Amino acid sequence: MIELKNITCRLNQNLALDNISLTIMPGESIAIIGPNGSGKTTLLKVLNGLINISSGEYIFDGQKIDSKFLEDSRQRKIFHKRIGFVFQNSDNQLFCKTVFDEIAFGLLQFNIEYKEVEKRVNDCLKLLEIEHIKNRVPYTLSGGEKKKVAIAATLALNPEVLVLDEPLNEIDPKSKRKLKELLFTLNQYGKTIICATHDYDYFDGLFKRAIEISSEHRIIYDGDFDKWHPHHI
Ligand SMILES: Nc1ncnc2c1ncn2[C@@H]1O[C@H](COP(=O)(O)OP(=O)(O)OP(=O)(O)O)[C@@H](O)[C@H]1O
Ligand SMILES: [Mg+2]
Repeated sequence: MIELKNITCRLNQNLALDNISLTIMPGESIAIIGPNGSGKTTLLKVLNGLINISSGEYIFDGQKIDSKFLEDSRQRKIFHKRIGFVFQNSDNQLFCKTVFDEIAFGLLQFNIEYKEVEKRVNDCLKLLEIEHIKNRVPYTLSGGEKKKVAIAATLALNPEVLVLDEPLNEIDPKSKRKLKELLFTLNQYGKTIICATHDYDYFDGLFKRAIEISSEHRIIYDGDFDKWHPHHI
């Protein structure tokens, strides 16, 4: 479903990804591992069409994803509904006046009846146990609260592929366990999970595959999560 062919990415002269190739099938659960600055976030942004690649090709479900494809706002909207992204830094993701609006925002881009939108938002508030903050201003929330709102907003669109960048940052232990269970359940229901994390131990049992990126921005391991051993970390 997802195919990256020889992707190289330079961001303001800095090499961030060096000749990355990989294929991801529907329903996989993958940990993206690697030291700070190796290129995990860049890889996830490429998958979400948020970065212009310097060379290589990205194919999503048979469609080449490039700047020409993403220029078409209708195509872009449908693409972003199919693949959802939870940012490493929630402040880059939250911009509405209330938590409720934040979670409803994506849904309101589509022709969905308001009643249905309301129901889905309430379901997501419940799923992340954040009903009590639904009228708060996202900007004023704590780090962990923001992260939960960002996850809820992404889940509201019911994406086929869920991409998460360090989702456990700032999350308390009890909520971490809940989040792990939630991701596990979503994966059981067939959603593809791609997650950059330094807390891979924590997700024990969730990931089937590990992809490790080196500080040289190349893939140095791609295989069973259970057989993966830290290389340079
Ligand atoms: N906007 C930018 N301009 C220039 N260089 C950048 C930019 N964003 C990232 N980089 C560089 O690209 C490389 C990869 O960064 P990236 O954010 O993908 O790493 P990461 O693996 O996610 O690290 P972390 O574990 O700290 O989140 C780093 O060397 C970084 O300095
Ligand atoms: Mg990162």
